[in-house]
Amino acid sequence: MCGIFGFVTRGDRALGDILLGAARRLSYRGYDSVGMATIDGAGRIDLRKDVGKVDDVAGRLHFENMSGQRGLLQLRWATFGAPSQVNAQPHLDSDGDLVGAHNGNVVNNVELRERFIAEGLTVRSTNDGESCVHAVELFMKRGAGMIDAIRQAHDILEGDYAFVIGAADGDTLYAFKKGSGLVAAIGDGFTCCSSDLPSILPLTDRILRMEDGEIAILTADSIELRRVGDLSRIDRRPQVFTGGMEAAVKGGYPHFMLKEIHEQPKAVAELTRLLDASPHVGRMVAKMQAARHLYYVGCGTSYHACLIGAVYAARIAGRPVVPILAPQFVAQYGPTLGKEDVALFVSQSGETKDVLNALELAERRGATALGLLNVIGSTLMHKSRTYLPLACGYEISVPATKTFLNQVAVFLYLALRMGGQPTDLLRRLPDLLSETLDTSEREVGRLLAAFDGRTDFYQLGYGLTYGVALEGALKLKEITYAHCEGMLSTEFKHGPLSAVDDGYPVIFVVGPDDVPVLISAVNEVTSRGGRAIAVAEPDPRLVGNVDDLLPLPKAGALLNPILATIPLQLLSYRLSLARGLDPDFPRDLSKTLTVD
Ligand code: G6P
Repeated sequence: MCGIFGFVTRGDRALGDILLGAARRLSYRGYDSVGMATIDGAGRIDLRKDVGKVDDVAGRLHFENMSGQRGLLQLRWATFGAPSQVNAQPHLDSDGDLVGAHNGNVVNNVELRERFIAEGLTVRSTNDGESCVHAVELFMKRGAGMIDAIRQAHDILEGDYAFVIGAADGDTLYAFKKGSGLVAAIGDGFTCCSSDLPSILPLTDRILRMEDGEIAILTADSIELRRVGDLSRIDRRPQVFTGGMEAAVKGGYPHFMLKEIHEQPKAVAELTRLLDASPHVGRMVAKMQAARHLYYVGCGTSYHACLIGAVYAARIAGRPVVPILAPQFVAQYGPTLGKEDVALFVSQSGETKDVLNALELAERRGATALGLLNVIGSTLMHKSRTYLPLACGYEISVPATKTFLNQVAVFLYLALRMGGQPTDLLRRLPDLLSETLDTSEREVGRLLAAFDGRTDFYQLGYGLTYGVALEGALKLKEITYAHCEGMLSTEFKHGPLSAVDDGYPVIFVVGPDDVPVLISAVNEVTSRGGRAIAVAEPDPRLVGNVDDLLPLPKAGALLNPILATIPLQLLSYRLSLARGLDPDFPRDLSKTLTVD
């Protein structure tokens, strides 16, 4: 996700504390590496950066004694390009006359680096933030002024990003926004810009909102906004932000969980772009295709993604995969593992001890260990031979939401690649997810009464939706403290049916191809007085048989499990609130489980 911040004032002054304070408040956006640069009135650039968290790096590099007329900083959440000193931001241009930093992703970074090298520029890192700086440098070397160079740089930098850049000469910082968050602000004798409000609010509340495609030109006394297309001026006045700090950190949402649920369309778009550009995908797919036995291994939510992933692999690529809980992988398959086998270890935190134990065993027996993780720099990242990032940014709420959704999206992507099929399907997801969010926000509320006074219920799925039902049930358990069991729909009649009494709620997650199979389970429940709630595309066969429908857009069987996740997340979130609980921090649970 990464975070950037820029500050411009009148004349040289101590900037260390201001920048460090902003960095601490932005640290939820990235903590792999941190860097600060100041530019003084004589045009001297002081750049300090390293791997580590803000206070560690600040202590080592003495950020507190930095001074100048302008300052910028960056906190990195690495996606591609290892967290390292050289990849840390900000970056200098070839001659050290420009300094800049970005957040987001420049997806044509590899091609651009080659182009910059061919043009004689000095490229020092593999980080795409450096490409932003060189892109501006390239056009300035050809005679463009700074703002015109930014306009031309925008034409060659593909992806979603925002950056801030300054030249040694002058007294100005330039900030540009395209797809990633960026706000500017005016204070007494200074202006600033940042990826997010929390870094700004203690300094000033006069916020200037920026739209995509806009350049902000910051001097000590004013901010001028221009459109990147024709550099025409935009007349927009700053507004006083009244929401307070906590609302700013949560992006205006009451809880991180709701914020993260709403971030999913963007997270999946980001992921798809990264996968399209990743050289690791081809390598992983080749290993998975050549495997004697292929395992998807995880715990909790990540295991549920594995269940769906295994169905994708079989259906789309004809590739049998064993989805399995990490400790059971050890107990069941440990003795059989050999060097022809491949296991993909899935963990958003990359630190779950059960998963790392299983990985160590697989490695000891010569099997290939691959990783799928969200936290860059985690143990799983270091221990797996090849890994893919989930590219969700920081997930703060304990119940996993966006990391689960992106895990399933990666599995769909890998299955399509293993099957030699195009991956375009995933491009439909951001719009479909937004539509599902809108509908589900409207529909879920009226269902809450069905769960009043109930302390146990079921969620049933089949085929691709089996893992979705298990995940929906886990979310409910985690944040409502109720007992909710996820189960294969066909198993319900083999025992649990006896629990059904008047109004007993049973949620059916129904894929569009599975309506005929689910209908009998639905009727077994309704004929005993139970309340059948379906999460499904509207289908006349279903609508006439269930009590309630949480409708999904028509998107077909492969995207259905991803969309069906949304109403279930929102249902558990709303039920948690209705029960007076805090969904972000449920009792007894931890986001990272590093114990056996
Ligand atoms: C803990 C969390 C679960 C999570 C599981 C696996 O038990 O409470 O919500 O699904 O760990 O986490 P991972 O980081 O490996 O995906």
